[in-house]
Amino acid sequence: MKTLILFSSRDGQTREIASFIANHLKEEMECEVYNILRVENLNWSQYDRVVIGASVRYGHFHPALAKFVKRYQSELQQRPAAFFSVNLTARKPEKRTPQTNAYTRKFLLQSPWQPDCCAVFAGALRYPRYGWFDRVMIQLIMRMTGGETDPSKEVEYTDWEQVKRFASEFAHLPGKAS
Ligand SMILES: Cc1cc2nc3c(=O)[nH]c(=O)nc-3n(C[C@H](O)[C@H](O)[C@H](O)COP(=O)(O)O)c2cc1C
Repeated sequence: MKTLILFSSRDGQTREIASFIANHLKEEMECEVYNILRVENLNWSQYDRVVIGASVRYGHFHPALAKFVKRYQSELQQRPAAFFSVNLTARKPEKRTPQTNAYTRKFLLQSPWQPDCCAVFAGALRYPRYGWFDRVMIQLIMRMTGGETDPSKEVEYTDWEQVKRFASEFAHLPGKAS
């Protein structure tokens, strides 16, 4: 069984989560991990399952996500397929479900593809890696929402146990008749 894991990541956290899922699944299935911005000419016949993960920046997922989902809607729907989103709003546990995380809920409402399982993960805050504008903007958002504002800090909020649970749920999704 082979699984395709695609990620859309700007600062690397979603890529790390995608690799972590691949590593967690390696006893049960072979996984290939790719950047959704760079995949071309996918040979769908070799993949039994799919996971797509994407991060949020200034309120939006990368447009490549919606484009990919629209283009490959039927290929996604034919296989057990999962989606996860990564953002900082989800550092608050009450904003960490597909129903309570506004970005994820909106994505699911607008998406022609409905994943068989879905999760929201808290991302990372890495002030020293941001440019001036992004650092000031994130600081402003953090001040307004009661988060970390110290620009020297790097904080990883991702709950890796939650990621493991998601990977296991995905691995146990029933197959689909072709
Ligand atoms: C410039 C910038 C804008 C962001 N905008 C949002 C946002 O609108 N909402 C949110 O919840 N998180 C936001 N985040 C947090 C990211 O989603 C979080 O850092 C995540 O870990 C990034 O994942 P990535 O490293 O895979 O790109 C933003 C982060 C940056 C650097």
